[in-house]
Amino acid sequence: MFFQKQTTWYKLFESVTAANARVAEGRVTTILINNKKICVAHTKDGFFAMQDKCPHNGSSLGNGFCTAEGSVVCPVHRYSFDLKTGRATSGGGDAARTYALETRADGIYIAFEKIVLF
Ligand code: FES
Repeated sequence: MFFQKQTTWYKLFESVTAANARVAEGRVTTILINNKKICVAHTKDGFFAMQDKCPHNGSSLGNGFCTAEGSVVCPVHRYSFDLKTGRATSGGGDAARTYALETRADGIYIAFEKIVLF
């Protein structure tokens, strides 16, 4: 049995301007795309995406806030997760899944990956 990683790109924002209007720098929000809730954060280093469901107990990370050090903080128990790696930066040891973003001429795209067996 073999497996292969498949990446599908979905348009998250129509443009950088639209992204800035939806998620101002220093803010986080939740965006539903392809039936997945994604936490999107905007820091001085740009936009980041990770699973919206907190690995600790399932709260919405998009209702939290981001730090100057590049983490998102869960609003319930204040565990925090690195926006680049998803690793816990405080609290428990569970990591959050992160998603690649790509800025193209016609918008900002998010990558969803899945493993396909054949
Ligand atoms: S539910 Fe997020 S830290 Fe507990």
